[in-house]
Amino acid sequence: MAEIGQNIQKAKEILESGQLVAIPTETVYGLGGNALNPLAVASIFETKNRPSFDPLIIHTSSFDRVKDFAREIPEPLEKLAKKFWPGPLTLLLPRKEIIPDLVTSGLDRVAVRVPSHPLTQELLESLYFPLAAPSANPFGYISPTAPAHVDAQLGTKIPYILDGGACKVGLESTIVGIEEGQVVIYRLGGLEISMIENVVGKVVVKDHSSSNPQAPGLLESHYAPRKPFILGDLDQLISKYTAENVDFGILSFSKTFPEIQKDHQVVLSPSGDLKEAAQHLFAGMRLLDQQAVSVILAERMPAEGLGNAINDRLKRAAAQA
Ligand code: TXA
Ligand code: MG
Repeated sequence: MAEIGQNIQKAKEILESGQLVAIPTETVYGLGGNALNPLAVASIFETKNRPSFDPLIIHTSSFDRVKDFAREIPEPLEKLAKKFWPGPLTLLLPRKEIIPDLVTSGLDRVAVRVPSHPLTQELLESLYFPLAAPSANPFGYISPTAPAHVDAQLGTKIPYILDGGACKVGLESTIVGIEEGQVVIYRLGGLEISMIENVVGKVVVKDHSSSNPQAPGLLESHYAPRKPFILGDLDQLISKYTAENVDFGILSFSKTFPEIQKDHQVVLSPSGDLKEAAQHLFAGMRLLDQQAVSVILAERMPAEGLGNAINDRLKRAAAQA
């Protein structure tokens, strides 16, 4: 095997010592630690300020390694894995004992994903253990899609950020499992439902609210900026807040508002491309959160393809805790 790069070597050594490294993935940056080492896993929860009832996804380099962590892989999920890994898909599988309770918050299923970012692929291949990695942000805040986002919030708390540039997908993975033979989607994400249905037929989407212990990433208020975040018709909202003399920022899908100061508006995709909008979503929310505005106004995306996953994040950002 070719020698691994210096940065990957550094990440590997830190991880082998039980410490944490922020890792690039195609979806968002993850806060990685040795998934088989309960102390490393505990420090993930501590660093993120994450409640221990919210289980972690483990990341490994290939489908073949999944059998080390899962008792079985139901056929429809195997089909999905073969089709979409490496990629923005997470599978809930019956876990083997080797996975510490802390990783799954005591649940019988473990969430597994094979990410496609080349640096993280190489890193995972070089490690003898999988990485538990939640998004590398404080619990409840916007997920990081660039190294600078991680640095801004966790930079002083972790020894190393493996720089893999901006994330190409920009939304977290789609989480999929199976209940009594029926394929279920627990979190909408970077892999579109239609792509999944093309492989396994009709799926059920479980849109749980805050009472759902299965996937607290689905807590009603999540992915949220610090500023009030209001979702609705932008023209109406702009008139209202202008009349009330409130400074606002706007997050639009494709439309530019010439009367509004440039640095107070983020246009996710001027050409109206949902993939591009997904890529820019979290960075746009962060940017507006840092402007001298007291409220962020946003509009829903067209309810098709990735638009549904983006709308899910917008809805949760708007649900103030
Ligand atoms: O794209 C992603 O999935 C990113 C990158 C870093 O891989 N990771 C990510 O992790 O979004 P996190 O921890 O921010 O969100 C994971 C979600 C949580 O909502 C958690 O509740 C759910 O996955 N989850 C993890 N393990 C689970 C399990 N055993 N059963 C049900 N839900 C689970
Ligand atoms: Mg998260």
